[in-house]
Amino acid sequence: MTVVPLGPTIAVRTAPRLRGEVRPPGDKSVSHRALLLALLAEGESRISGAGDGRDVRATAAVAAALGAAVERSGDDARAVDYRVVSPGRAGLREPAGVLDCQNSGTTLRLTAGILAGLAWFAVLDGDDSLRGRPMGRIAAPLAAMGATIAGRAGATLPPLAITGRAPLLPIDHTTPVPSAQVKSAVLLAGLAAEGTTTVREAVATRDHTERMLRARGVAVRTERLPDGGAVHALDGGARVRPLDERVPGDISGAAFWLVAAAIHPDAELTLRNVGTNPTRRAIIDLLRRMGAEIEVRPVGAADDEERGEPVAEIVVRSSTLRGIDVTAAEVAAAIDEIPALCLAAAVASGRTVIPGVGELRHKESDRVAGIVAGLAALGARVTVDGDTIVIDGGRALEGAPVETHGDHRLAMAFAVAGLVARGETLIRDPGSADVSYPGFFGELERVRA
Ligand code: S3P
Repeated sequence: MTVVPLGPTIAVRTAPRLRGEVRPPGDKSVSHRALLLALLAEGESRISGAGDGRDVRATAAVAAALGAAVERSGDDARAVDYRVVSPGRAGLREPAGVLDCQNSGTTLRLTAGILAGLAWFAVLDGDDSLRGRPMGRIAAPLAAMGATIAGRAGATLPPLAITGRAPLLPIDHTTPVPSAQVKSAVLLAGLAAEGTTTVREAVATRDHTERMLRARGVAVRTERLPDGGAVHALDGGARVRPLDERVPGDISGAAFWLVAAAIHPDAELTLRNVGTNPTRRAIIDLLRRMGAEIEVRPVGAADDEERGEPVAEIVVRSSTLRGIDVTAAEVAAAIDEIPALCLAAAVASGRTVIPGVGELRHKESDRVAGIVAGLAALGARVTVDGDTIVIDGGRALEGAPVETHGDHRLAMAFAVAGLVARGETLIRDPGSADVSYPGFFGELERVRA
């Protein structure tokens, strides 16, 4: 046994080789949205291949608490199926208790957008990590639309108590930071507004909400701006139709294997069924720019580039990486992959500069602090200057104890580091990987040849 569970710590030892096939779990972002849109749609929606991490389960429980019949089936933790039968928006019910979003910002922020347009009282809460994450960015626009929102620290921290209003007032909102969750919360609220709701973003973020609404009959109009921004508009009152959805594999989970194989001296991994939505695939382009050998073989054709989710099989091999200058827009596009990217940069030769990482301080943990401390513990040269991470790569990593701060993406990034670091890397509190990638440590064990 090379991965040794030690209670709350897992030891990962250097892997001599990495080989095999990996099927990442169903995409977390798409799974959340499929469940919440099924809640809004009257009738039956079937979702296949959903992720079964704790975050998606939290959304399923919220959908059930609001009045949908939610049945989950399947025993492959990477991909489960849901059958959701909903009375539709008009038949939803006021939840009797607090809606527990656990560790999931997407659950809380998107559900808040829906609750804003339902004229009753509901409370959204979560674990200690979620209680520390900024909510003013959704509370302000939803209040401007007419919802009454209370919460800690002036309605900027959970729990949030929402008294909705139907119909809401439409809004023309510019998101204060690049955030698909804020965009989605306002667009979902816009469905219950009288008139046209517009969301403007300076940097276009993942577009699953817009695609999935269109596929369900809601006309979301998107204008992509030449400077990389985007404007989205929809008219209130549109009916969300039920739809059967196949969830693609999560590229944010696949990213750990992309980096693992690229930085390991004797590796070839094949990743199956990976979602390659253009707004999510920046990590592939960044790693290729660093010199990674990544082959992307599209599988089938998305029925409609604007609605469906493209899928590919990806082969990645041992590569010689060099440092790169990343742009702030690329950071926004690869926001969940920055921990894995930093690991690649630590192994690459030369300097990698990653600016505009401020938002990473507000994820499941302060990821800037967590990445810097963890990689430094492994012997990497990493510094932070304001909101810029600078990594001078090329030093051999040495196994050491590393803290994950209960953050799934840090746990997985450091576990992958353990595959190349000399000796033993001790991952403290690795259980958080289950938030997005149940079975991750089993896969890690399986791909070491
Ligand atoms: C997500 C959006 C991003 C991302 C998160 C999932 C989504 O968060 O980090 O993991 O599904 O919309 P922000 O909207 O806070 O950037």
